[in-house]
Amino acid sequence: MVKVREALVAVFSGAVLAAAPWASMALAQGANIGKPDRDDIEYPDDEPPSAEEVELGKKLFYDRRLSAKKNISCATCHNPNLGFGDGFALGLGQADNVLGRNTPHIYNLAWNTVFFWDGRASSLEEQALGPIEAKAEMDLKIDEAVSRIAKVKEYQQAFKKIYKSKVTKENMAKAIAAFERTIIVDDTPFDRYISGDQNAMIPAAVRGMQLFLGKGRCVVCHSGPNFTDESFHNIGLENQKDEGRNAVVKGKNMTSAFKTPGLRNVLLTAPYMHDGSLGTLEEVMRHYNTGGKKNKNLSPDMKPLKLTEREINDLVAFMGALTQPLVIKPPKVP
Ligand code: HEC
Ligand code: HEC
Repeated sequence: MVKVREALVAVFSGAVLAAAPWASMALAQGANIGKPDRDDIEYPDDEPPSAEEVELGKKLFYDRRLSAKKNISCATCHNPNLGFGDGFALGLGQADNVLGRNTPHIYNLAWNTVFFWDGRASSLEEQALGPIEAKAEMDLKIDEAVSRIAKVKEYQQAFKKIYKSKVTKENMAKAIAAFERTIIVDDTPFDRYISGDQNAMIPAAVRGMQLFLGKGRCVVCHSGPNFTDESFHNIGLENQKDEGRNAVVKGKNMTSAFKTPGLRNVLLTAPYMHDGSLGTLEEVMRHYNTGGKKNKNLSPDMKPLKLTEREINDLVAFMGALTQPLVIKPPKVP
């Protein structure tokens, strides 16, 4: 992985990029950005979940029984109509308490192997029960959550049919994760462009893609089909108060380092960053253009970019081309 990154930096720093469509196409393929391959998803049972299991997970995702006061569900904070976020800089818990971090989107997590801003969970199953018990979030003991769900006849029957068992926390987590793995964005203008439709992206977005791969250096961290290296970096935001990755794994530059978020549907997921401190993609671009605030943990891959106004707009246009609004029909929660 490190080798690939270094090679990319070597290729892109100072490279003069040809404007011809075939050239940018080759560049994108070389950088391994492209349409994510559904065959690469590693399912826990080695095969995609059944439609019934996904539907069960969706109901649990929307079920407010999973919060102590029965007032919020996963979908309250990860609202499909708000890019699976909540639109706030910092999340809001069941007691209207402000959380320490921004609610992240959950697009294309099926391919991910690290979760949370600091990467403290390593599977969706492991992640799923966390927010239910977290005091600041849903604040419900897991045994109480299981017994609330087990009281509902429709759930009892579904668990029996799908898992041949009664309601358990393990199976609740499996069902929720199965639903989350279906939240996939892979048919954006960019995906159509990269698959050969040269008119799928407007010219500004094509220029933006070249900048993303070249002068903007974005691909150094936002690499692969989902535009994340699944690694952690301190990008020199104003706020350096959150310990970030260092709380999980002590290491060089890990203080206030956070997971590189995937950029699919990023246009829909404002505000941005672990602390929600940047409101728009233009603001994000202005941040990167400065190279980030100097501090001892700043990633060595952050450099002032000297982008012009037009280049900033082009990069925003490219991120706009990563958009595919998903329509999620809310389930009938029993
Ligand atoms: C009160 C708001 C709130 C609720 C309710 C909530 N979440 Fe979250 N979720 C967050 C916040 C904030 C984070 C980031 C926390 C962190 O990184 O430290 C997060 C992180 C996540 C992540 C990790 C995303 C990534 O990119 O790593 C997943 C997956 C997730 N939540 C799923 C769920 C599920 C499933 C539920 C319901 C069982 C749920 N959330 C309930 C606010 C919420
Ligand atoms: C050194 C690695 C690195 C480079 C280079 C980089 N990013 Fe990031 N990016 C990150 C990390 C890490 C975060 C999250 C930081 C945080 O929240 O503290 C992030 C966050 C973002 C976000 C906010 C996403 C969200 O959901 O909140 C956008 C948009 C973004 N980057 C776009 C870009 C663009 C465009 C470029 C090139 C101009 C770029 N990045 C260069 C690592 C990088």
